[in-house]
Amino acid sequence: MSDNPEDTLYPVPARLLDAKQCPEPYISSIEQYQKMHRQSIEHPEEFFGKVFCLDHGDIAWFLEGQLNASYNCVDRHAIATPDKVAMIYEADEPNQSEHITYGDLLRKVCQLAGALRARGIRKGDTVAIYMPMIPEAVVALLACARIGALHSVIFAGFSAEALRDRIKDANSRIVLTSDQGKRGGKTIETKKIVDEALKSCPSVETVVVCQRTGASEVPMTPGRDVWWGEEVSRQPTYSAPEVMYSEDPLFLLYTSGSTGQPKGVMHTTAGYLLGAAATVKYVFDYHPGDIFACMADVGWITGHTYIVYGPLALGATTVLFESIPTYPTPSRYWELIAKHKVTQFYTAPTAIRALRRLGDSWLEGHDLSSLRVLGTVGEPINPEAWHWYNDKVGKGRCAIVDTYWQTETGCHIVTPLPGAIATKPGSATFPFFGIDLAILDPVTGKELVGNDVTGVLAVKRAWPSIARTIYGDHKRFMETYLRPYPGYYFTGDGATRDKDGYIWIRGRVDDVINVSGHRLSTAEIESALIMHPTVAEAAVIGANDDVTGQCIHAFVCLKPGISSHSNDLTKELVVQVRKVIGPFAAPKKIYLVEDLPKTRSGKLMRRILRKIVAGEKDSLGDISTLADPGVVAALIVKVESS
Ligand code: PRX
Repeated sequence: MSDNPEDTLYPVPARLLDAKQCPEPYISSIEQYQKMHRQSIEHPEEFFGKVFCLDHGDIAWFLEGQLNASYNCVDRHAIATPDKVAMIYEADEPNQSEHITYGDLLRKVCQLAGALRARGIRKGDTVAIYMPMIPEAVVALLACARIGALHSVIFAGFSAEALRDRIKDANSRIVLTSDQGKRGGKTIETKKIVDEALKSCPSVETVVVCQRTGASEVPMTPGRDVWWGEEVSRQPTYSAPEVMYSEDPLFLLYTSGSTGQPKGVMHTTAGYLLGAAATVKYVFDYHPGDIFACMADVGWITGHTYIVYGPLALGATTVLFESIPTYPTPSRYWELIAKHKVTQFYTAPTAIRALRRLGDSWLEGHDLSSLRVLGTVGEPINPEAWHWYNDKVGKGRCAIVDTYWQTETGCHIVTPLPGAIATKPGSATFPFFGIDLAILDPVTGKELVGNDVTGVLAVKRAWPSIARTIYGDHKRFMETYLRPYPGYYFTGDGATRDKDGYIWIRGRVDDVINVSGHRLSTAEIESALIMHPTVAEAAVIGANDDVTGQCIHAFVCLKPGISSHSNDLTKELVVQVRKVIGPFAAPKKIYLVEDLPKTRSGKLMRRILRKIVAGEKDSLGDISTLADPGVVAALIVKVESS
């Protein structure tokens, strides 16, 4: 066999196509996929239903349609199958799982919707949600959707300062949170972080606090803070959904771009919901009765689409996992799969790599036979991790779907389909329905047609679940996504289409770093560092890391007169980043340096720093454009000696 991953093709596991063993896949041959894909591009109105779509950034689908996402995700199933389990809450401690039926979910969503309305929240308002992975977090999203308010979930790993910036940008008047959080046996002071954030957020009138731990010492600010339990207990268990138009906004989700300012990506109702539901159905080949387990956090797009909206729109049972893969032992995932008879399992390559390192023994004794589809998301999966997932977890009898997408795309855009597409480890394979994919020459912007080409990844026309704008900054939306290559949506990723037409994602071509599938901008981390009183300048790059994919290395120049020999200072700088952004953004290495590589016009050459850290000092490229080429030698010495 060739060593080239492009040459190894793994067919659809025979078991998936055997009606005696598995439900028949919706798409069961490459020809069927190709025919449907072609139709979705050539005749979107037949494929998706009524469509209205203009390019120039005026994107709109199913214009005259009316719906409500919470009605679609909850009421329809609560009416048809009220006792069906909508959500399995797998709490931090493994013996504390809880089942919530569609009937229960409807009552909880309605009561919170009523409470939000009673607090004056109306259609079009934004609601900040800063919560751990508890059922109330899912209820919160759906209650906002029910009354037409835009939820803006801020991942509970973000610091008080990052939370504050996002609350302010979205102008949220209300924050939904909890007293504390539990994760991997540790307690997180969720409410205290909110209090800290709100010291400078005058727009917030109300904080609704859910009791996760019931710890009594949680401070409540009179007139502002109210208990979730008391608020909802006053409300009736039915509250009518707001009638929404297809293009009414459903939510905001902040994500990092190439500047320091995070952007509030806005999704609208019908297109997003369609994308979420269609991908759960086709990419995960969801069939009634399946138990769907996405291990992401609800604070990221993966949680929005594949814990909440996608599975619930289809009336599935979705798993909400509060803990981490290694708590209380590295068998936690496998116990969860066996206990709940999970059929579709979705996680990030970083978790797979970390578990693989800990050894196969943790898998022993756990019955994983319920699994049919294993998904990965967030970063490229290296072939070693792919094979471990396929062989040890899937036992060669499951489909592996390496799903490529982004906060902005709403749902998967390049992905295998379990019953139809033979896979290559590390390739996201082919475009999903409605995605007219293109690889462009990065310089000329010309489309590179045919196979065996590498360039930047773009999409040739709008599809239903594409983000509609950046909240409060449509100009930035246009400039980031639609203007770089006119006529195309620009993903920011590089990609190859190999000789067989398979797509390989090569990673970001902008200053975005991907750590454990978390997207961070170098500029955001640099500005966090510069806020420290000792720092004059900072340059941040992504370096390769065996477990987290990439990790953060920061080069810091101190202000004159400050000693660079202090170990405590580098520690303090790490704390600084944790404080301004959150623990997940902490640099793994900080180099205190005299100077940074800059062009004569002052542009930072991060490329050179990346090469030095990667040990490629012999292929730095042209350094003659640097204002002072001499800095390079000093940087090499610094990196090599630390
Ligand atoms: O670089 C790509 C990478 O993650 C970026 C999107 O990050 P975010 O909006 O936070 O969403 C993550 C979850 C959808 C992309 O621009 N990425 C995502 N999935 C993959 C990937 N890179 C390679 N392979 C993937 N399957």
